[in-house]
Amino acid sequence: MEVSKKLSAYLTKLNTIRTTAIKSVKSESPTVKTFTLEDDICSKANPGQFLMLRIPGIDEIPLSILNAGEGQVQFSVKAVGDATRHLHNLTTGDLLGLRGPFGTSFTETRGRVLLIGGGTGTAPLLFLAKRLAAKVDRLSFVIGAKTKNELLYLTELDAVCTDESAIATTEDGSYGLQCLATEPLEKLVDKQKFNMIYTCGPEKMVKSIFNFAEKRKIAMEASLERLIRCGIGLCGSCMIGKYRVCRDGPVFTMARLSEVKDELGMSKLGFDGSRIEV
Ligand SMILES: Cc1cc2nc3c(=O)[nH]c(=O)nc-3n(C[C@H](O)[C@H](O)[C@H](O)COP(=O)(O)OP(=O)(O)OC[C@H]3O[C@@H](n4cnc5c(N)ncnc54)[C@H](O)[C@@H]3O)c2cc1C
Ligand code: FES
Repeated sequence: MEVSKKLSAYLTKLNTIRTTAIKSVKSESPTVKTFTLEDDICSKANPGQFLMLRIPGIDEIPLSILNAGEGQVQFSVKAVGDATRHLHNLTTGDLLGLRGPFGTSFTETRGRVLLIGGGTGTAPLLFLAKRLAAKVDRLSFVIGAKTKNELLYLTELDAVCTDESAIATTEDGSYGLQCLATEPLEKLVDKQKFNMIYTCGPEKMVKSIFNFAEKRKIAMEASLERLIRCGIGLCGSCMIGKYRVCRDGPVFTMARLSEVKDELGMSKLGFDGSRIEV
């Protein structure tokens, strides 16, 4: 009874909207900015978890945590629509609301790990890589983008890799290898036995990595995106198979990815409740 009371008080605390001023804003690329906020609760988040950010008068959106600690939390935002564009126009001192952190986090393994990030999906993986860097035998990172100026965090990624540098791929060949982020996978895995693959990014990329990891029998964890509204497992807008991404994810293990593989990279629920292509 005492335990469940404590848990319920803790969950209520996470779900209470806190108002905080933007501490700093940094441009990462022409379309992505990183925001730093002060928030004690989110500063204790683990890699893979997300927060719900309220942009006053506009909307509330889910964002992965890029960094947390010392009373602060950071996230990167790509301007894609109403809420994210509005957020890009805000600056130091402007007020935001936040709830969280919510959801599952990546399992921190040892040995040899491979991380593959696409677009802003690289954010939670960089947070994870910083935690793993001192503990693993090998940390390889592949990052993919359509073009050079969309590649994020290159300097930080090089610093956490045990390889000479992170492997960058662009679809137009403007930087690194000209291919999809999934292409270097086969060669890397042929050369080195990895204990774990972590990934986050476009779902078709995640699906292709899942198919590869399943075939080669390598453990894998992926962070998935769905339409997240309540963030606490109540509304059902984020369902994939029998799971709620906000509560049972966003990080899914290989076993759970296997259970939802028919939906993975295929379809999801849209704002009006109808099924749309991923
Ligand atoms: C767990 C999770 C982590 C995320 N992490 C990041 C991140 O670190 N950085 C980042 O830039 N983006 C992240 N996103 C995506 C981000 O939430 C959407 O880009 C944002 O909600 C778009 O809002 P908008 O009003 O600007 O765009 P809209 O015009 O509303 O929509 C643009 C696109 O974003 C999708 N979207 C809109 N609202 C939501 C929502 N509530 N939940 C999920 N998708 C939505 C729409 O389906 C559409 O494809 C994450 C999403 C999830 C589910
Ligand atoms: S967002 Fe409401 S159940 Fe997941």
